[in-house]
Amino acid sequence: MSAVIIDGKATAKRLRKEIKSEVAELRAGGITPTLAVVIVGDDPASRVYVTNKEKDCEKCGIASLEFALDADAGQSKLETLVGELNARDDVHGVLVQLPLPKGYDERRILDLIDPRKDVDAFHPLNVGRIVRGDYAFLPCTPAGVMALIDEYGIEVEGRECVVVGRSNIVGKPMSLLLLHRNGTVTTCHSRTKNLAEVCRRADILVSAVGKIGVITPDMVKPGACVIDVAINTAPDGSLVGDCADGVSEVAGFITPVPGGVGPMTRVMLLRNTLTAARLLCGAGGE
Ligand code: GUN
Repeated sequence: MSAVIIDGKATAKRLRKEIKSEVAELRAGGITPTLAVVIVGDDPASRVYVTNKEKDCEKCGIASLEFALDADAGQSKLETLVGELNARDDVHGVLVQLPLPKGYDERRILDLIDPRKDVDAFHPLNVGRIVRGDYAFLPCTPAGVMALIDEYGIEVEGRECVVVGRSNIVGKPMSLLLLHRNGTVTTCHSRTKNLAEVCRRADILVSAVGKIGVITPDMVKPGACVIDVAINTAPDGSLVGDCADGVSEVAGFITPVPGGVGPMTRVMLLRNTLTAARLLCGAGGE
């Protein structure tokens, strides 16, 4: 039996349509949700991500403003820019593309973004709110994963959930979101002993490692839901996830790479920008 393929592309398309009509309503009331994207330096991957974010905004009627700084602009120039964007009434979301070039204090920058405009949900206030379970924004990738789990009617409550990876952007918040849904959550990382054994317990297995083939078929419980968050570049240049060939023969549900979590991450940024615009303009977001 082959797994049901979780179609992130189609789900994202449907959600984008919903967001587009909600944006249109706000615009009719005189508010154009606006995202400011800051890119520092010329990292090619970051460039692609930023361009994609701008295209996504345009498709939904969200305005995007790009602020590009040279890699050697310096911490204080970047901090000044973030302060200016925080102060602008016509900017609702502020996103600083990561990673920043060497020499920048990334944490200081993330701490500086107005939490009300923090569409990445990386500010400590928003992280704390996620821990407590009373958040306005969620980080885009875990939010996208939860939306896919809901879309495919996958039950979380009382089930074994294993998250492989403990990054602040994906693994940690992912574990918290599954916990909020009453999953029994185990977070694995590079020092985990018996990774295969732990993964085999999972009814829902989320892999966010970034290593080709790290999840092999023997690590998957038959019928499990496998969410592959990684986007790795294979030696032939194609994009692949963490799952080795054969995992989809054991799993009950699986996200493809590309076309699984990636499009959902993108759409969640649009959702967060819309939420920020509503909250800042008092148009009822919470
Ligand atoms: N770089 C890679 N992923 C992300 C993300 O989700 N947000 C930001 N700001 N930078 C990133």
